[in-house]
Amino acid sequence: MAFYDSDVSVMIDSATVEARVRELGVQIARDYQGKDLTLIGILKGSVFFTTDLARAIDLPLTVEFLGVSSYQGGTETTGEVRITSDLTKPMAGKHLLIVEDIIDTGLTMKFLLENLSARHPASLKICTLLEKPSRARTTVPIDYKGFVIEDKFVVGYGLDFDEVYRNLPFIGVMKGK
Ligand code: IMP
Ligand code: MG
Repeated sequence: MAFYDSDVSVMIDSATVEARVRELGVQIARDYQGKDLTLIGILKGSVFFTTDLARAIDLPLTVEFLGVSSYQGGTETTGEVRITSDLTKPMAGKHLLIVEDIIDTGLTMKFLLENLSARHPASLKICTLLEKPSRARTTVPIDYKGFVIEDKFVVGYGLDFDEVYRNLPFIGVMKGK
């Protein structure tokens, strides 16, 4: 019996997540052949995805992390996003791929696109493990997508509920939420 068994049920098991991450890695490696790729992992949720994805991309690449927090009003973001931990290097002229855990309303990603494009990268694309399209409040162009999910609050593989459950190896749903 694992610590989460009574409150989390499996939505996408770990083998399915791992296989999809490998597929995305192959696709990204093909698309960025010959380019200086920089992965921008968004803290903290996408740390687990970013490190697995980086290992699935057979190219020389750089990994950077950017911390953002969106002000929460209950379980819903207000759309006000701020940077809690900025990149430490200039990004001008680099091929940036934002690596995010989930796109829900899309407001965080909209902020990230505006913020990072102001740094004049050579290109700027989006890779998200999960998308909840039913909750979208703005449209963002998603270049690489792991899974489209229904409107359920998910945890695991980096995603948290009150900072807990990030270390589950699968994507789970909180029972009763
Ligand atoms: P957005 O700005 O509404 O797209 O929110 C994106 C952020 O909200 C993600 O990076 C997550 O940190 C968080 N989030 C949205 N949905 C979930 C969920 O189902 N579980 C855990 N975190 C979530
Ligand atoms: Mg996040």
